[in-house]
Amino acid sequence: MKSYSFSNGDKMPAIGLGTWKSAPGEVYNAVTWAIEVGYRHIDCAAIYQNEKEVGNALKDAFDKGLVKREEIFVTSKLWNNSHRQDKVENGLDQTLSDLQLDYLDLYLIHWPISLQEEVMFPEKGDDFLTYDEVPLADTWKGMEAVKKRGKAKHIGVSNFNQKKLREILSNASELPEMNQIELHPYLPQLKLVDFCKSNGIGVTAYSPLGSSDRPKARRRDDDPVLLEDETIKGLAEKHQCSPAQVLIAYAVHRDLVVIPKSANKDRIKQNLDAASVKLSPEDMESIHQIEHRFRFIDGTFFTEVPGSPYKATDLWE
Ligand code: A2P
Repeated sequence: MKSYSFSNGDKMPAIGLGTWKSAPGEVYNAVTWAIEVGYRHIDCAAIYQNEKEVGNALKDAFDKGLVKREEIFVTSKLWNNSHRQDKVENGLDQTLSDLQLDYLDLYLIHWPISLQEEVMFPEKGDDFLTYDEVPLADTWKGMEAVKKRGKAKHIGVSNFNQKKLREILSNASELPEMNQIELHPYLPQLKLVDFCKSNGIGVTAYSPLGSSDRPKARRRDDDPVLLEDETIKGLAEKHQCSPAQVLIAYAVHRDLVVIPKSANKDRIKQNLDAASVKLSPEDMESIHQIEHRFRFIDGTFFTEVPGSPYKATDLWE
């Protein structure tokens, strides 16, 4: 399995299991099946509200001897209501307790958006905290502290554009090592990936399959269906594989890390097997010729809340 190497030599497997939208009641099986078929990378987040069940699956896998802690790469993310510098460690401690781990391999700031402590999802302007109240640089100091304490081996961000990354880079003593962003053929993120690479920041592609199971509130009937794209289907036929495997292979061929979500045993295996799909330079070029552009997770659930201090330009280029 291809992997991403951090500057200290630690490795992150290029294909990981996404757990967003895996409901309690199904994520235990998903994580267990994934480990059984060879996944060594699980992507989690506090806001997915399923970390306890992921933790049970990890514990049972360790107890059964399926895998050792040091053989599996676990990522999680700080939710927006724990951005104050002195709250970052509490957020991480809760995640570590839920996952039944004593360290994470990677901890990310989930969004460059800050919420009041008691708020999970904002409904009105008062639910937010502004950048003046909680500067991102302060949140980053909290992230640096948990890395220094060994609770997270690596630290990074998610949903950060170049401007927000620059703000962190200019003040940091520990640089962000990863940016997890939506990325697929309808949103290839060429400039942001170049920027990250030239600053030593790895990139993880989320929603690589177009997240067709995203919540109804984040979907419209006329949204495109990435898995049904004609170019992708044509390449799947050519390589005798599935469209999902072409999409995963596309990210792997760009030297990115990719975290397809599935809660289905066969598809979990199929997605890992995408590592052996070899796309030619011509195949990659035909994917880059796709002109359709679409962002499935558009952040309007933060930026379009009445009274929100955050704008789309705080998230996207
Ligand atoms: P399921 O969990 O039933 O397998 P993303 O990773 O972009 O968020 O996409 C996740 C969606 O893609 C889920 O609806 C998931 O359904 C579906 N999915 C995952 N793997 C495959 C696959 N190999 N083929 C088709 N759909 C898939």
